[in-house]
Amino acid sequence: MFGKACDFNELRQGKYEVAVVNRILHMIVWPTRGEPRAFHGMCPHANEPLADARFDGETLTCAHHDWAFSSETGACIKGQPCTLREFPLKIENDEVLVDIGDFAPNGPC
Ligand code: FES
Repeated sequence: MFGKACDFNELRQGKYEVAVVNRILHMIVWPTRGEPRAFHGMCPHANEPLADARFDGETLTCAHHDWAFSSETGACIKGQPCTLREFPLKIENDEVLVDIGDFAPNGPC
């Protein structure tokens, strides 16, 4: 079931927004080359929030220990092999909606 993450006009290409949908932290990332995507907002390394991550329009880099993730796939490109969990995202009536499905916040990535 989709829930509202933010208004579309809050997003900027090459930037990200932090949003909470159904009590789960999300990174709404808009790559320089691509469409907005929704990733789980907790880093798979040590389960720290990605809310302070650096983003150059392509790579999301965790502020805690510098693991880096592709904003197009969520794949870890610096750190141990893993992938940020991605959630379906759609834009309707100028609202950004994310579907968390049956994701359990304390479950595996
Ligand atoms: S918690 Fe993100 S790199 Fe360690």
